[in-house]
Amino acid sequence: MCGIVGYAGNKDTISVLLHGLEKLEYRGYDSAGIAYLENGEIKVSKCKGRLINLQEKLADRHTENIGTGIGHTRWATHGEPNDINSHPHLSKNNQFCIVHNGIIENYISLRDNLIREGYHFESNTDSEVITHLLHFNYNGEMIETILKTINQLEGSYALAIICKDHDDKVFCVRKESPLIVGSGTGENFIASDIPAILKYTREIFIMEDNEIAIIDKDNITFFNSFGSSISKNEVLVTWDEKASEKGGFEHFMLKEIHEEPESIRKTINPRIKNNHIVLEGITLEKPKKIAIVACGTAYHAGVVGKYLIEKLLRIPVEVDIASEFRYREPIIDEDTLTIIISQSGETIDTLFALRKAREKGSRILSIVNVVGSSIARESDDVLYTWAGPEIAVASTKAYSTQLSAIYLITLMMYEGKDKELLISQLKDIPDQISKVIKDMSAIQKASSLLFGSKSIFFIGRGLDYALSMEGSLKLKEISYIHSEAYAGGELKHGTIALIEEGTPVICSLTQHDLIDKMISNIREVKARGAYVMVITQESHCEQVKEVADMIVMIPEVNPVFSPVIAVVPMQLFAYFCSVEKGNDVDKPRNLAKSVTVE
Ligand code: M6R
Repeated sequence: MCGIVGYAGNKDTISVLLHGLEKLEYRGYDSAGIAYLENGEIKVSKCKGRLINLQEKLADRHTENIGTGIGHTRWATHGEPNDINSHPHLSKNNQFCIVHNGIIENYISLRDNLIREGYHFESNTDSEVITHLLHFNYNGEMIETILKTINQLEGSYALAIICKDHDDKVFCVRKESPLIVGSGTGENFIASDIPAILKYTREIFIMEDNEIAIIDKDNITFFNSFGSSISKNEVLVTWDEKASEKGGFEHFMLKEIHEEPESIRKTINPRIKNNHIVLEGITLEKPKKIAIVACGTAYHAGVVGKYLIEKLLRIPVEVDIASEFRYREPIIDEDTLTIIISQSGETIDTLFALRKAREKGSRILSIVNVVGSSIARESDDVLYTWAGPEIAVASTKAYSTQLSAIYLITLMMYEGKDKELLISQLKDIPDQISKVIKDMSAIQKASSLLFGSKSIFFIGRGLDYALSMEGSLKLKEISYIHSEAYAGGELKHGTIALIEEGTPVICSLTQHDLIDKMISNIREVKARGAYVMVITQESHCEQVKEVADMIVMIPEVNPVFSPVIAVVPMQLFAYFCSVEKGNDVDKPRNLAKSVTVE
């Protein structure tokens, strides 16, 4: 979602801000803007659409004597994406200028009060209220002014602020929206996420809720919510800029699919010692019940987890979409282990679901990719997925490493005789995925045949059904083809009415004990004219041949591990459909990478 960057230093501020925004593009946005202090005046440049529009607008801007600035990519929540609603927003007399990520829930009453005080609003955003409120509360003391202002705000925010009276400084504060501060030599930075500043520094500070930071080119100072100065620990980022670049691939998504084997290796290998699973600092005893909570792709990983854990551990598992979990009355207590799954660790619904589970006394184990993220910090235990930075909005390597983490957790608690065998089979997964990626021709052919479809259905049973949900989401989000995932046995209860001559149906068929049932389901859709593509293994090929129009083969693996392999052709299918349609694969319309608002 919205991306924030701030800079204080001697480099060309406009270039640093634009570079930072470019690196935050993956978060999803519909407009962009920057503000900087020049000869004591705040200058703003912003516009609707892609960053390139802003870059063109600023192409011949002279940048001498500019040492401080803030930038923003906006993902519209309040007010349509247009030039005026774009950030930054200026206050009266152009004294303050802010960029904001989050939602101010009480902005209407604040705005009405400010209008009564003579303030004029230009935009339809909730954010503009902040800049006027800063102006209204200003007494010359920035920390006091910021504290007074945030105490009046309800909702979530990451804010970067510049003020005419402090032209060498950038101020920032956060609540429930991510923000980091980067420490350089003779320059300092603010950003929503690490890639924005990785070109300049790997030394960062992670801001906590209601902490304020002030940066100028030589200093970084932190304050707590009482206005007292505090010290914070620096974190050294272990990956470099290269990891967040395309590395010769046409799109980040394709690069990230190719990185799946290595990401899984990094996630599982250090945790398997002499064929035993050792999770750093985490001791797990079988809980009475498990609740898994997540959003989107991470939720789909959770659905796989439910099938797996119930099958292998015989523990009841509930899986919830975080936005539902937050507002229902889940029956969980201190005997429940809550597993929170999130790539970014900043998804607001997931974060609030975590807090709800904690309130109910549940222990929280999170599976998170971004080190030091809010979800990681608020969990009792964290199992990091070592997928590295995932830039494409469509999640791929995050999903397969989330599944890998679920396998680790499950097998750690598993007591069956085949435990060691399963652990050694888990170690083979990366090589199996490499085989799938090596020959993409069948899947490329399928995409070139089917990318023009109006609607594509995914069907499966058991773990194949759980997996199909992810295949369907991937296709929707980047190819914009309508798609639904259905449990094979459920089709005839309604959805089969939509199958007509030529409707593509993608069937995942990897669960040995359910093959016959699935073949019957395929026959049902075939009888209504469906064009059937089956993802399966050699051992089922004979049976499948009779009913499939197209077969995509994956390596023979134990069925419990097939989701992590069979998802790869589905990811590639979505990818190639998107490419065929000429879509913006890595930044699909309307979507944001990190969903930090409700
Ligand atoms: O960062 P998270 O894993 O918490 O994000 C959850 C979802 O927003 C995310 O998985 C989303 O569904 C992806 N774009 C799907 O590819």
